[in-house]
Amino acid sequence: NGYRVAVVGATGAVGTRMIEMLEQSSLPIANVKYLASKRSAGKILKFKEQEITVEELVPESFEEIDLALFSAGGGVSKKFAPEAVKRGAVVVDNTSAFRMDPEVPLVVPEVNENALYQHKGLIANPNCSTIQMVVALEPIRKAFGLKKVIVTTLQAVSGAGNRAIKELHDETEAVLNGEAYEPQILPVAGDKKHYQIAFNPLAQIDVFEDDGYTHEEWKMIHETKKIMEDENIQVTATCVRVPVAVAHSESVWFELEKNGATVSKLHDLLKRAPGVVLEDDPENQIYPQAVNAEGKKETFVGRVRPDQEQSNAFHLYCVSDNLLKGAAWNSVQIAERLHALDLLRVPK
Ligand code: A2P
Repeated sequence: NGYRVAVVGATGAVGTRMIEMLEQSSLPIANVKYLASKRSAGKILKFKEQEITVEELVPESFEEIDLALFSAGGGVSKKFAPEAVKRGAVVVDNTSAFRMDPEVPLVVPEVNENALYQHKGLIANPNCSTIQMVVALEPIRKAFGLKKVIVTTLQAVSGAGNRAIKELHDETEAVLNGEAYEPQILPVAGDKKHYQIAFNPLAQIDVFEDDGYTHEEWKMIHETKKIMEDENIQVTATCVRVPVAVAHSESVWFELEKNGATVSKLHDLLKRAPGVVLEDDPENQIYPQAVNAEGKKETFVGRVRPDQEQSNAFHLYCVSDNLLKGAAWNSVQIAERLHALDLLRVPK
């Protein structure tokens, strides 16, 4: 008794965390199926005490599946997510393939859970950097309205997958040993040039658009408006890859619609906000850190302070595990909410 669950990209950086999140989940699970490319077929991965053999992804993989979590790249989702829905599986897709499709809800449960009621079988999981920012800003937006957001991210390499984590490790070792190393993955595996990430932040995540913004920056701008259901919020972003394995950090400047916010009022809102842990005590040097956020589901918020020149404007700094809240946990949390709301089925 329970759902039959497929994990697509089960061997990947996010997929392995999806498995962990499913193991810890309250979701009733009858059985799991692990799907990846041909390269990984036959590999054994665990689900709790059970040994599960990874299978090659084919359209028929989704026969007798109720829930499919996708994190194997946008191309795989574009091709296979409709196949899954066609066979009756609800898909939670962690890639950018369907996020801006008006027919597809883009959901962060702490912000826009109600959008789940509109689903037609497919729900999109937002970009990792967008998720933690909207979790931190939503309680503030509700109380004071949001006029403008300027964000700079410091993003971990795991957002680019397991091969990028390996590149950071190997390259760091090579640099420390004074050896040569040829970068092959970062900043973007599919782009023309590759650069050193060890000891060297790179102001490029995803490919460049014609307007000079990267596609990652574009995602933060447009996904924020969709999730907050407000096209008028002005958002702009600079996304930077830093030599960190796991957990993204963000410096966020925001201007409020209404008067009357103070640091202490913002602290009160953040303390009560779902999914947020306030870590803000400068006197005692308390502020969010990537090493503390790794492995946790929450978004950690600190450094809340007013802009010294402009009224109704503040800064905050937030950190969250990009593989968990930024990806695997948000996806499994969406599935848990679908179950709780009796929406975990493809509507007729
Ligand atoms: P595989 O291990 O067989 O390559 P990461 O984000 O860490 O790079 O992981 C990507 C995930 O997506 C892996 O599980 C990978 O499987 C999977 N994947 C990549 N390409 C395909 C494909 N064409 N079909 C199915 N799974 C894929």
